[in-house]
Amino acid sequence: MTYLWVLTSLSCLSAVSAEIRLVDLTHMHGPSTIYWPGNPKYNFTIMYEANSFATAEHGGTHLDSPSHFAKGAWHTAQIPMENLYGPGVVIDVKSKTKNNPDYRVTLQDLMDWERKYGRIPRKSVVVMNSGWSYFYPNKTRVFNSTTSDDPSTFHFPGWHEDAVTWLLNNRHINVLGVDTPSTDYGQSTTFPVHVILGKANIPGMENVAFLDRIPVNGTMIYAAVIKLYDGSGGPIRVFATITEKEPINIINNSEAKQ
Ligand SMILES: *[C@@H]1O[C@H](CO)[C@@H](O)[C@H](O)[C@H]1NC(C)=O
Ligand SMILES: *[C@@H]1O[C@H](CO)[C@@H](O)[C@H](O)[C@H]1NC(C)=O
Ligand SMILES: *[C@@H]1O[C@H](CO)[C@@H](O)[C@H](O)[C@H]1NC(C)=O
Ligand SMILES: *[C@@H]1O[C@H](CO)[C@@H](O)[C@H](O)[C@H]1NC(C)=O
Ligand SMILES: *[C@@H]1O[C@H](CO)[C@@H](O)[C@H](O)[C@H]1NC(C)=O
Ligand SMILES: [Zn+2]
Repeated sequence: MTYLWVLTSLSCLSAVSAEIRLVDLTHMHGPSTIYWPGNPKYNFTIMYEANSFATAEHGGTHLDSPSHFAKGAWHTAQIPMENLYGPGVVIDVKSKTKNNPDYRVTLQDLMDWERKYGRIPRKSVVVMNSGWSYFYPNKTRVFNSTTSDDPSTFHFPGWHEDAVTWLLNNRHINVLGVDTPSTDYGQSTTFPVHVILGKANIPGMENVAFLDRIPVNGTMIYAAVIKLYDGSGGPIRVFATITEKEPINIINNSEAKQ
């Protein structure tokens, strides 16, 4: 009897040690949420703890549905949940964006990741970490422009279309993300990455936060988007799951109030 009890307790203990940890990769949605110029302002109306809020789809940490740039592609609520998560592949380009805010992630960056961590897994969520998360929610710094209502003056990093085309033709990804306001870099006028992703029915994630809190391989990333009827995007709660054995810098999902 005692022996059996010990065995049962031990198996419970090992179940506990296999538990996963959640890491929030989402900026606060609120009055300081950053929108692309031209969008209506965030509107939070206090109604005695049964409040009302109105937000543009493309603000803060959010999803670009494939329909955003491709007619006939999935709207927000049509994206299958199976396509909204996968193994996390973080492409850290902080050393390159430091002196070049117009940096675009290259095929070489993807090759460098694969040399260190192996082939990009199937159904991956591939995200650029440019270090931009630390600038949020300062508009001047995020758009890297003193005229944050004029996109022609924006200078922030994004993906190069050649790297994205290679990813779609040679690997299998579920979602492509950035920690900046757009999957195309700030100086883009034709938004080729948005077009390529839309046509391939691949959602994009923008303004992903706190990527330094997770390892660049070995996590799972989830893009839990609002189930918005006919949406072209919408706010997402992005989070990663991580096993306790992985090295992590910070594990603190709290942040300052806004
Ligand atoms: C904000 O929302 C409230 C509640 O729906 C509405 O009464 C108000 O007109 C809205 N304000 C703006 C600026 O849209
Ligand atoms: C935002 O960043 C700019 C440029 O670095 C700085 O001048 C400004 O004080 C910052 N604003 C806030 C609210 O911190
Ligand atoms: C834009 O980025 C460059 C390079 O990081 C920096 O030197 C410059 O001060 C930034 N401009 C603004 C307005 O933040
Ligand atoms: C991450 O990559 C390293 C280096 O290749 C490897 O040792 C490690 O097992 C990988 N982690 C996971 C969880 O796949
Ligand atoms: C987590 O961060 C919050 C906000 O920065 C801070 O108030 C809190 O003390 C931190 N908690 C831990 C356990 O470090
Ligand atoms: Zn968007």
